Amino acid sequence: MNQTLSIDGARLYRTLDALGAIGGFEDPHSGLRGVCRLALTAADGAGRRHVVELMRAAGLEVRIDQIGNVFGRRAGQNDRLRPVMMGSHIDSVATAGRFDGCLGVLGGLEVIRTLNDAGRSTLRPLVVAFFTDEEGARFGTDMLGSAVATGRIPLKDAHALRDRQDLSVRDELAAIGFLGTDEPRLEAPYAYLECHIEQGPVLRTAGVDIGVVTGVQGICWHELSIVGRSAHAGTTPMSLRADAGVAAARINLALREMVASGRFGPEFRATMGVIAPYPGLVNVVPGQVTATVDLRDPDTALLDAAEAAIIAFYAEAARLEGVTIQHRRSARTPYVAFDADIQRRVAEAADARGFSRAAIVSGAGHDAQELSRLCPAGMVFVPGEFDGISHNPRELSTERQCADGVNVLLDVACALAEQAATLEELS
Ligand code: GLV
Ligand code: MN
Ligand code: MN
Repeated sequence: MNQTLSIDGARLYRTLDALGAIGGFEDPHSGLRGVCRLALTAADGAGRRHVVELMRAAGLEVRIDQIGNVFGRRAGQNDRLRPVMMGSHIDSVATAGRFDGCLGVLGGLEVIRTLNDAGRSTLRPLVVAFFTDEEGARFGTDMLGSAVATGRIPLKDAHALRDRQDLSVRDELAAIGFLGTDEPRLEAPYAYLECHIEQGPVLRTAGVDIGVVTGVQGICWHELSIVGRSAHAGTTPMSLRADAGVAAARINLALREMVASGRFGPEFRATMGVIAPYPGLVNVVPGQVTATVDLRDPDTALLDAAEAAIIAFYAEAARLEGVTIQHRRSARTPYVAFDADIQRRVAEAADARGFSRAAIVSGAGHDAQELSRLCPAGMVFVPGEFDGISHNPRELSTERQCADGVNVLLDVACALAEQAATLEELS
C-alpha cells in the first residue's frame, strides 16, 4: 500500500465548490446556496462538460457511452489489464448540496491528479467514471446509467423513460450533447470503488472518520396514479365525494402504521415524497393525485412482504374512497453486499492512516451496487455535519472529512492497481 502519497484536500474542496456552483440556486427556506442538476437538464450538461474538461486536463482519455455514462481513463504500465474504476454520479435531486455523488467523481479525479503530481504510474489502468441519472429524481428510475452499463436495464427501456414533461431520456441526452456512441455494456473492471458521503447521522454521531460500507439496503419505488372525482369544495356533500387526496393520505398513514407494526423489521423505511393533487386549488376536491412510494429495507424478503402489503392496501384505499389507484413499479433493487476483500482493504487503509472506522450499511442507493454485479466493488463513507442531512442544501462534509475519505480511496485504488494479471488476463 502506498503510504507516502496523500491527496490535496484543499484542491479537492475547491473542485467540489466549483462544480457545486453549476446549477446553484438560492434556497428560500435556509437562505443557503443549493444545487439543482437534475439528470440531463441544461445544468447537468454544464456540470458534465465542466468535469470532462477537468478529466482531459488531468490527462484522461474520455469516452461517452450511449446512455451518457462518462469514463476518463489513465493508461497503466500494462494497459491490457482490466482497470481499477473509481466513480459515482454528478446529477442531483432538485434540492441538493454539493457533495452527494460529486465526492466520488471528483475524489477519483483527485487521486489521478495526486498520481500525476507525483509522477507515479500504476500497473493497471485507472478509470474515473460518472454515471447517468443515479438519482432517478427526474425520470423515475435510480442508478439508471450504471444499471444499463451492467445489463440490469436494457438500453432501449432506459432511452424510452420519460419525465413529467414527457421528454425522453434519449432526446434529452442528445439535447445536452451526451448521447455517446460507445456500447453501454461495460467490460468488467478489475474492481470498482466509490467514495461517498454517508447521508445520515451514524458516523457523525459516533465520532467515526470512515465508514466501511458492507452493503446497500433494498429499494422499491412505486409511481401512483389515483383518480377520483373533482368537485366543488363547498357544495358537494361529503357523502358524494371520491377524493383522490384522501386516498393518498390513507396510503401515507398506512405506511406509517406498517413501520410502527414492526412486521417489516426495525430498519424498514417508507416515504411518500410526491403527493401532487390536480387541480391543486383551495376550493376544489382533488380529482387526481400523482404520488410516489419509496420503501427501503436491508432484508430483501421483508421488503418483498412490505411491497405486497402496500399493494394490497392500494385496493383497500381505492374501495374506501371510491377512487381507482394504479401503481407502476419504477425501481426495485435487492440488498447488495459489497466484496469482503475490498471492505478489508478499506478498513486497513483507514487504520494505517490513523482514522477511526466503523462498518455501515448504506441507506441510500449507489452506482457501486450495480457495478458489484460485474466486479468486486466497495465503498468508503465519510460523515456529514448536521446529522448527515442530505438531498438538502445544508448537506456538508468538511474539507478534512472529504480528504480523509479520498485518501482511503487513493490507498485502496493504488493497491488494487498494482495487482498482477489474473490467470484469465494472461490467457
Ligand atoms: C439516492 O440518492 C437514493 O435515493 O438512495
Ligand atoms: Mn449519491
Ligand atoms: Mn442522492
